[in-house]
Amino acid sequence: MRGTGVTHAVCPGSFDPPTLGHLDIVGRAAGLFERVTVAVLVNPAKEGMFTVAERLELLREAVHPWANVDVDSFGGLLVDYCTSHDIQAIVKGLRAVSDFDYELQMAQMNKGLSGVDTLFMPTSPTFSFLSSSLVKQVATYGGDVSAHLSAEVYAALTARLAEQRDGGL
Ligand code: PNS
Repeated sequence: MRGTGVTHAVCPGSFDPPTLGHLDIVGRAAGLFERVTVAVLVNPAKEGMFTVAERLELLREAVHPWANVDVDSFGGLLVDYCTSHDIQAIVKGLRAVSDFDYELQMAQMNKGLSGVDTLFMPTSPTFSFLSSSLVKQVATYGGDVSAHLSAEVYAALTARLAEQRDGGL
């Protein structure tokens, strides 16, 4: 039996800010699916370092090389976003075994809720330790995170930290 072919996938996340690890997954997904949407979670319970609008702008710039990748935001359940946008697959990067437990729970819950499947993609080893929160923490205390971010995201992070420092004076 032939499958119907999965054409539209979503890469969901907080992306606060997007790292090169995120872009590694997005770029590889772009090679596998006709269309990929990078979807930023709007989470009113959690104030980020960047607003959702800022993250969307940074992501738009970052995904520019891939013509089949677009950027959007969503609130509520990811599966509802998938259903309303005719998205057939969720793509998630797995950095290490420690990611797996929670990702598996979410994948199984999402499958049960809506039938949408999750595909796990191992991150490239170069990015296996990378997370947005670690990047923010290291940068906040003056560590060099330039190797882990696009030039635009690095500039935005540096500017935001400077604003926060000035605001705190
Ligand atoms: O980058 P993150 O914060 O690890 O991404 C987590 C995200 C946004 C993919 C996950 O929290 C999510 O899908 N949230 C939307 C709400 C939802 O659908 N929750 C049920 C998951 S089973």
